[in-house]
Amino acid sequence: MRRTTTRSGTRPGTRSGRELSALDAAYDECRRLVRTTRPTEYALMQLMPPVARPVSWALYAAFAFADDLLDRSAEAPEERGRLLREWRAALEADLASGTSDDPVRLALTDAVWHWGLDLGDLLDALDAVQRDDDRESVATWAEWRERAHAQNMSWPEQLMRMLVRVGLPVPVRLRDLPGFTRFVEGLFLTDMLRDLPEDLDGGHVWFPTEVLDRFQVTRAELLAREWTPAVRRLVAHLADQAREWLEDSRRALRNTLPLGPAIVLDSAVALFGAELDAFVRAGSAALHRQVRVPRHIEWRILGPARARAAVVWRLTLPPGRDAAAEASRTAAHRPAGVSGDDSAPALPAGPERHTTRIAEPPLPPRPHRDGARPPAIAEAHLPQHVAIVMDGNGRWATGLGLPRDEGHRAGAVALRDVVQGALEIGLAHLTVYAFSTENWKRSPDEVSKLFAIMRAELLDGELLDHDVRLRWVGSPDGLPEDVVEVLRAQEHATRNRTGLTLNVCVNYGGRAELARAGASLARAALAGEVDPARVSEQLFAAHLPHHALPDVDLLWRTSGEIRTSNFLPWHAHYAELHFTDQPWPDVDRRDLWEAVVAYTHRKRRKGAASAPAPAEGTE
Ligand code: FPP
Repeated sequence: MRRTTTRSGTRPGTRSGRELSALDAAYDECRRLVRTTRPTEYALMQLMPPVARPVSWALYAAFAFADDLLDRSAEAPEERGRLLREWRAALEADLASGTSDDPVRLALTDAVWHWGLDLGDLLDALDAVQRDDDRESVATWAEWRERAHAQNMSWPEQLMRMLVRVGLPVPVRLRDLPGFTRFVEGLFLTDMLRDLPEDLDGGHVWFPTEVLDRFQVTRAELLAREWTPAVRRLVAHLADQAREWLEDSRRALRNTLPLGPAIVLDSAVALFGAELDAFVRAGSAALHRQVRVPRHIEWRILGPARARAAVVWRLTLPPGRDAAAEASRTAAHRPAGVSGDDSAPALPAGPERHTTRIAEPPLPPRPHRDGARPPAIAEAHLPQHVAIVMDGNGRWATGLGLPRDEGHRAGAVALRDVVQGALEIGLAHLTVYAFSTENWKRSPDEVSKLFAIMRAELLDGELLDHDVRLRWVGSPDGLPEDVVEVLRAQEHATRNRTGLTLNVCVNYGGRAELARAGASLARAALAGEVDPARVSEQLFAAHLPHHALPDVDLLWRTSGEIRTSNFLPWHAHYAELHFTDQPWPDVDRRDLWEAVVAYTHRKRRKGAASAPAPAEGTE
């Protein structure tokens, strides 16, 4: 396989034969490392399209190498730490220079350069692995989760980034998908159970102290590999827990992922589930040696998955991008912040890279996943402005046993689909209630996660890839600076779009808005610019902070609550109200269409004896 260069000072395609064969050998070494040390993960990587496999070996090998280095029992702990620090420093230098004399680092460097992967994110994840070496134990599940996320979110996201580069419509911000964090936790716990013998050899017990205490098991007992009834109950509980998380994530992600990644996810849940079964069946032996899934079970899962994946990738990959890595590895990108070859286009560093990531020209609306087509509604009958209270995220998540922020992640995904549906019917204005001034009463943790989700959605989500002009409605008071920055930057970047105007209400309160208009009028009156006797509705509206917002024709609230909650009191004064029972994360564009069709049947009399013209609705 011929590979283009990533080396500083040389143009893509001009690497010498010797360098190319070194690179091939480097990818092969990563493949060998993953196949021999993580056969299950290797089998899952083989379900990816061929073009993605070398990158996945390189990404995973780097983490496996770091992890295994820390698990080595032959060296003293300080020595292991020193070796990893040196390896990490060498990797950073290699990433900057574009080449390496170490095979794993060379392959990773090539992958990073070639596909424009996020260098900072990868190094952070390696740092999280390194931090494990500096600690003795983990106290709580919360701390354990943090560790799971810090180490395991980056590499699958980098892989998605690479798939986007070859033209596959996959989500990049996996961490924002409902259930993905659960998947990572299930995976991490399964891996921990699988690695238990090595961890015990190295003197580590990584299960949180709180679960050991609950089952009255001491670290010393585990390290001595005593198979007491309490230890038996503990490991059975942990295996059940991992299985439950994996299944939860499969349920939550089922309707979100495109077919290809969904096949990989389903197979992962089935394979890791089989590992957990084998682990529990092995009893005390699982403390002494790694347990493997019987071959025939592996084949039963992987055989059909391989066949389905091959068909799906063939159908979804753009022509010419599937045959081999070589074909698609022509547009080399240098990772952010790396100096070197001026002939290769550098990705701008930091936030600028994100805030300017606006598709030009914008993409057409993405069709509905099941092929649902929009109703044909004459423009004259369409509401001009639909406003939505996206309610029920928290209840949706709690009902599935997930943390509330997973509900907001799922809510953001639902919003994506509804926006596609709004574009398809040609709606002019859609306003969504994303964060009210009352929402500050929530826990700081939920609030900051919600802001992180919004921010990520506006930066990396698909919303602004389409003909969507973003407008922010709300006040900057008290909002984190980075949220204000993103809202303003994306408003600016989309200002010339002519399709749907998406008004996002963030830190918005209806009464506060009216009070601000009142204050502005009072100031104008005091300055002699306004005669109080001549204050009309039009003049008042002109003093509203968001006076360009048209009146709301249809106000829709999900999740069974029948109130408007301080949402657009001025603009929605004559809105038709529509209430539905399903929580927001269960909504998709078809629900918007239903709401709009229902609107077309309403008689809009506006105080007159009869409606001006019967709304004939759908054509
Ligand atoms: C109400 O559900 C929902 C919110 C407060 C947040 C909605 C935000 C999103 C869907 C993300 C939007 C993203 C962008 C880019 C605008 P709740 O938590 O009050 O649900 P509950 O009533 O069940 O507790």
